[in-house]
Amino acid sequence: MTISRRTFLAAAGFTAGTGLLSACGSGTQATTGLNGVKTSLQVFSWWTAGGELQALDALKANFNLHNPNIEFINEAVAGGAGTNAKAELAKRLAAGNPPDTFQAQAGQMVGDYITAGQLEDVTFLYQQNGWDKTFNQDVLKLIQRDGKYYSVPVDIHHINVLWSNKRLCDKVGVPTNPQTIPEFITALGKVQAAGHIPLAISRDPSETWQLQHVMEAMLIGTLGPEGWAALWAPGADWSSPQVTQALNHFHQVMLHAPGTGGNMTWDQVSAQVAQGTAAYQIMGDWTEASFTVTFNLQPHVDYDWCASPGTTGVFDFASDCFTLPKGAPHRDATIAWLSECGSQEGQDSFTTVKGAIPPRAQVGAQERTLFDTYLQWSLDEWGKDKIVGSLTHGVVAPGAWNNDILTAMGNYLTDSDPAKLQSSLVAAAAKHFAAT
Ligand code: GAL
Repeated sequence: MTISRRTFLAAAGFTAGTGLLSACGSGTQATTGLNGVKTSLQVFSWWTAGGELQALDALKANFNLHNPNIEFINEAVAGGAGTNAKAELAKRLAAGNPPDTFQAQAGQMVGDYITAGQLEDVTFLYQQNGWDKTFNQDVLKLIQRDGKYYSVPVDIHHINVLWSNKRLCDKVGVPTNPQTIPEFITALGKVQAAGHIPLAISRDPSETWQLQHVMEAMLIGTLGPEGWAALWAPGADWSSPQVTQALNHFHQVMLHAPGTGGNMTWDQVSAQVAQGTAAYQIMGDWTEASFTVTFNLQPHVDYDWCASPGTTGVFDFASDCFTLPKGAPHRDATIAWLSECGSQEGQDSFTTVKGAIPPRAQVGAQERTLFDTYLQWSLDEWGKDKIVGSLTHGVVAPGAWNNDILTAMGNYLTDSDPAKLQSSLVAAAAKHFAAT
């Protein structure tokens, strides 16, 4: 039986999590520590919107079951994809004032903190818990350096997902699963002609990551997984005709994405799809919580999804991790938190609500029933697709390069010129490779 995310929240969240414990009886448990001494734990993330907060609360509730003496202090900084949080964290780290633990993303983002010498090696937790065997090998590769681990992953997000309002698509007569980018652009045109918003997105300069997310999907959909991976390796050719074509695809799609005034966060954008004002959104699967938790919609009836056009068989992923910063004020509490994040119980309590899958090598048949219809699809895709890493969510580009690309997105918002966008992307890549 599949339980809904809503039921799961009620069972697992705030009433001591008994439903969760019995459901995961065979799983590893996070350990209690600190010998009963009262302490606190500052948890720094950007999880404040949509289902993010509920997911963090579910993880916190499970953590406090095992660690009743540790007061959880939520130091989240609002802003999708961590745009504000990353800047705030940089200030704190520079001032020698780290939180006890902070959210980072597997890949280049964690790599930046390792290079800056800001993280403690947590390999001992991997050895104690056998995580180097039970976690997914693709994720493990991204969080180690020189054979040592520097963070603990809590989820795997699916980035290349096209979400749709099924009722609106059916009414207009457009597919919820356009297979190619040209087919998608035709569908967008039909929705526009019918007087609805084709693609929901924010065009606010503070939300450029939403554009970058769509551009990422168009690049993967046009270049394929190998072509995408080559863009992040030495010798990358950002001036190629294939990149030109991908950016033209992006431009065509954006011509059908009017945006709305004001600073719309990703979940407010999702609400436009949920409520049937807009037909489609290209967004990571955290957005599914908006459909299920916030709007109580039914999969394949009210809303639908598929791999973003041109990317069937490819899983573009990101993985949120937690860290032990050097100088963390409550180091023992952080270690207890990281034990929770790496445990099957902790990961299940979090991912089932967040709209993500656990970063472990195996998800058993019983455990699988905790996940809703969409997440079971994502689990299947993860098992069979070609895996590529996300730009927008920390995997393939270090922060400096990512910021240059975001600046290029901001300029595109103003001039709507795909040729200028390509020149800026060529320059950003050249700058990155010259500096490394
Ligand atoms: C991503 C992150 C997700 C989700 C999203 C929107 O970067 O991996 O966990 O929070 O941003 O804020």
